[in-house]
Amino acid sequence: MLDVTAIDTFYGETQTLFGVSLSVQAGQVLALLGANGAGKTTVLRSILGLTRPRRGDIRFEGRSIVTRATHEIARAGIGWVPDDRRLCPTLTVAKNLSLGEKRTAFRAWSMTEVIDIFSPLKYLMSREAETLSGGEMQMVAIARALLGSPGLMLFDEPSQGLAPKIVDDVLGVIRRLKAAGIASIVVEQNADVALGVADRVVVLLHGQVAWSGEAAALATDAGLKRRLLGGLA
Ligand SMILES: Nc1ncnc2c1ncn2[C@@H]1O[C@H](COP(=O)(O)OP(=O)(O)O)[C@@H](O)[C@H]1O
Ligand SMILES: [Mg+2]
Repeated sequence: MLDVTAIDTFYGETQTLFGVSLSVQAGQVLALLGANGAGKTTVLRSILGLTRPRRGDIRFEGRSIVTRATHEIARAGIGWVPDDRRLCPTLTVAKNLSLGEKRTAFRAWSMTEVIDIFSPLKYLMSREAETLSGGEMQMVAIARALLGSPGLMLFDEPSQGLAPKIVDDVLGVIRRLKAAGIASIVVEQNADVALGVADRVVVLLHGQVAWSGEAAALATDAGLKRRLLGGLA
């Protein structure tokens, strides 16, 4: 579904990604792990066309998206749950959600279906986004992305700042999307959270891929995990 091939991404003259390659198959969950500053968010920004790679290619459903505008990439079916949620603070939850609604070539999700998955949303629809708790904001950010009918979701640190119970809820949603055929990339500093849902793993170190393979191979090899992820797992 997604093939990122040997991308080099820069901020100004500073190179941040060095020949990063990864793939996600339809319906698969890929965990993208690594320390703070390793380049995880930059990989997502590169896929979304927010920070364009200088070299390399990114193909989604067989077509190169590396020179396409961000709104076209979203319309191709890539949804984004940013690390800072990016809700419009003074708009209601209902309005924030309706801003996310769009059609793609993938399955469309109605507001009713989305509220069925995120049932607490029902009671929050008329609240202004800035009055929500961190967990509620995360729920709105995921629901908004789902209303955009994605085939692939990009989650940037979905567990960050959330209580363990809420993290479990978020993982449950990622599993549910997977069951519905939606692929995900889950960026995490908290390796154990991501390993709980991932099929495959890519570990970044200083902007390069340090390891990639099956999630089960990493989860069951304590030595490998310690070597790759140190204090992160
Ligand atoms: N907008 C930016 N301008 C300049 N440098 C940036 C910017 N965003 C990130 N960086 C730098 O790029 C590197 C990778 O950052 P990032 O992709 O955010 O890492 P991660 O998400 O793994 O923590 C870091 O050294 C960071 O300081
Ligand atoms: Mg980041």
